[in-house]
This record gives sequence, structure tokens and C-alpha cells, in this order.
Amino acid sequence: MGKRELYIEQRLQQAQQDGVVCLCKQVSDRKIRKAVQAGHRRFVSVKRITGAASSCGLCQPFVEDIIEEEKKKMR
Ligand code: FES
Repeated sequence: MGKRELYIEQRLQQAQQDGVVCLCKQVSDRKIRKAVQAGHRRFVSVKRITGAASSCGLCQPFVEDIIEEEKKKMR
């Protein structure tokens, strides 16, 4: 395994341990939930505040699911 592959592998393992949802911006599940609890109930707002899904965008469905889940808890 080359240095680059090793680096990527280590970053992925660390991200899983830290509960990172958005790999590009290293935004965790916890940070997204905190943003929702602080009153950011819409995806665009959470994106602006946390930076989640503001690069490749592949994590957007996961971020949206977390927002919905957190909103349900608050009802
Ligand atoms: S993984 Fe979130 S923007 Fe790329």
C-alpha cells in the first residue's frame, strides 16, 4: 500500500471513530445535531453553519436524514 492509500485509509478510520458524516469538511454527526438544536432546521442553514455538504455534496442525503431525525426528537 502506497503512502497516499495509507493516508486515505487512516483518515477514513479516524472519521468513523469520530462520527464524521462529511468527509470533505470533517463534519461530525454531533456537530450537525447541535446546529439543529441551536435552531438551524433547514439543510441550507446547517450547511452554511457547519460546512457539511459544501464540497463534493455526496453526504447531503445523510446530513438531511440527521436533520430530520433531530427535528423529530425535538417535537
Ligand atoms: S463528503 Fe460532504 S461535501 Fe464531500
